[in-house]
Amino acid sequence: MASFDILVLPGDGIGPEVTAEGVRILEAVGERFEHVFKLTEDVVGGACIDAHGVAIRPETLQAAKDSDAVLFGAVGGPKWDDPTASVRPEQGLLALRSDLDLWANLRPVTANPAMLDASTIKREVLEGTDLLVIRELVSGAYFGEPKERRTDDGLRAAVDTIYYREDQVERVARLGFQLARERRNKLTSVDKANVLESSRLWREVVHEVRTDFPDVEYEDVLVDAMTMHLIRSPKSYDVVIASNMFGDIVTDEASMLIGSMGMLASASLSTPAEEGTALGMYEPIHGSAPDIAGQGVANPLAMILCTAMLLRHSCGLEEEAQAVEAAVQAVVEAGVRTADLAGEGEPTVDTTAMADAVLERLGS
Ligand code: IPM
Ligand code: MG
Repeated sequence: MASFDILVLPGDGIGPEVTAEGVRILEAVGERFEHVFKLTEDVVGGACIDAHGVAIRPETLQAAKDSDAVLFGAVGGPKWDDPTASVRPEQGLLALRSDLDLWANLRPVTANPAMLDASTIKREVLEGTDLLVIRELVSGAYFGEPKERRTDDGLRAAVDTIYYREDQVERVARLGFQLARERRNKLTSVDKANVLESSRLWREVVHEVRTDFPDVEYEDVLVDAMTMHLIRSPKSYDVVIASNMFGDIVTDEASMLIGSMGMLASASLSTPAEEGTALGMYEPIHGSAPDIAGQGVANPLAMILCTAMLLRHSCGLEEEAQAVEAAVQAVVEAGVRTADLAGEGEPTVDTTAMADAVLERLGS
């Protein structure tokens, strides 16, 4: 009987509602497959600002480092939105990414045949879309120094820095080529090498790594063009690598290929100790959705798919991960819909009922 330490950080908005359902799924998997998931819960983001005056406490970061995985809900909301505040909910998330060195952010985007009409994009464009974006997560514009407000000639000014070091690019490129080999053998690297020095380094390093993977089909695409290609012919992409900021932008766009952000999970991984055992943080892409928070109507499927990724990448439990994914697929095919997925006049279920439907198919 295997045992895993999981830190659960529900956060703000719909975070706690969907995280509670993720926890139920992990418990059911534990029961059915006879594993022990030791779950510890703590506050992060706005909830932590309210309780402790900071977006995350040092002891929480330490607990995260000592865990096998972190299950993360969402942070932020109008209550803490003041852009001039020195303490902001997002700092909790960024500290976790940076302190745990979660450099590889995996964001799979697969169009579900049972849900093609949920997207605003035409069915024939979407059919067959199955891409994996790997976003660099601990460097680039998010963390480069200097990052500050200034006064220039008596006027307000601000600066952010896009910084990359070759090893930070190399590990992302290598992972991209490796994962491409396990999929459809194509890698696309997104940059802005016609303008940015950091992108020219990015491209140079990716091309060096590429010499170790001559069998993988490869292309460079400028980020502006990528946003266009992504909605024009999404199925032409397999694995896509991008810097921190470009990956942020491109994955929000990609999420609309699916129709709802409520379906998209992500994994943020450090270097794996061995196959399937990277320290990882698992987080739905959808964010805290303050507009629907507290109503019990949020779609828990992204969070439930996060638990599948957690089982796969941090616990080495592939069979269990597939069981969760199959249960979600069965529910979607059965037509069970939360409000975000439902078409005009289609009946909807709430957060808990959606998770119940998954649990029913997961068996225990
Ligand atoms: C994401 C989010 C975060 C990011 C925010 C909440 C800081 O947009 O995970 O994509 O920009 O990385
Ligand atoms: Mg984002």
